[in-house]
Amino acid sequence: MLLGVNIDHIAVLRQARLVDDPNVLEAALLASKYCEQITLHIREDLRHAQVKDLEDILNHCKSVVNLECAADEKMINLACKMRPNRVTLVPEKREELTTEGGLKLEISKLKPLIKALQKAQIEVSLFIEANEEDILKAKELGAEYIELHTGKFANLYNALFTNILRTPFKIPEFDLPKFELSKLFEKELLRLEKAAFKADELGLKVAAGHGLNYQNVGFIAKIKPICELNIGQSIVAKSVFIGLEKAICLMKERIFEARYVKD
Ligand code: PXP
Repeated sequence: MLLGVNIDHIAVLRQARLVDDPNVLEAALLASKYCEQITLHIREDLRHAQVKDLEDILNHCKSVVNLECAADEKMINLACKMRPNRVTLVPEKREELTTEGGLKLEISKLKPLIKALQKAQIEVSLFIEANEEDILKAKELGAEYIELHTGKFANLYNALFTNILRTPFKIPEFDLPKFELSKLFEKELLRLEKAAFKADELGLKVAAGHGLNYQNVGFIAKIKPICELNIGQSIVAKSVFIGLEKAICLMKERIFEARYVKD
């Protein structure tokens, strides 16, 4: 199981003051000693990570680099020019805080974009909801990877096992009795598992990510066809208290325990 660290969350801190602190490349170089992949989300409005961050990382960091970006021509041209190892196409809405929901797989729109990336020898991953229809479309589109969106799973986990429902950060749709939340949680986990097995059966490599943290990652790490997790917010948040190196190692430990030690 490989870990990609979404290093763009370091850029979120930097952009709060618009000075080069913390330095994104420094973080990527440190992270790359302890994880297998540097993942960088460049949003269309450049509100966090900048093009220069990608350039610096590609020029100085030996890790595999996974660029997450919107499926639009401007970003694809940029990717083809910069040539990260992989591009993960994600849906983007300007007003959202983070990536909500999976990519809408419009074959005629995505096919030429994917072809252009592959021509530039960039692997393609599609960030999708865990349903069979999208997995079949991802296969039809010729993507090498899918990344399953674990956002709903993570929100349900929080609603069920933390006190978030008592805070201003609650998601109203999950303000339900525990037994109902439990059923939804099990259903979501099963949906992710089924999708992972289906994608694997079709020869797609399966990654997962969004909202994964030290408490909930074990459930996802146990799903055998999933070979990679991309995690940002929780690792960078933890690094504020214990440092980036320890935060990454602790996440790797949690993943290892769930996947290889516990039953
Ligand atoms: N994977 C994808 C495709 C994403 O868009 C994001 C968020 O940028 C992540 C993983 C990481 O999510 P989180 O920061 O919640 O760990």
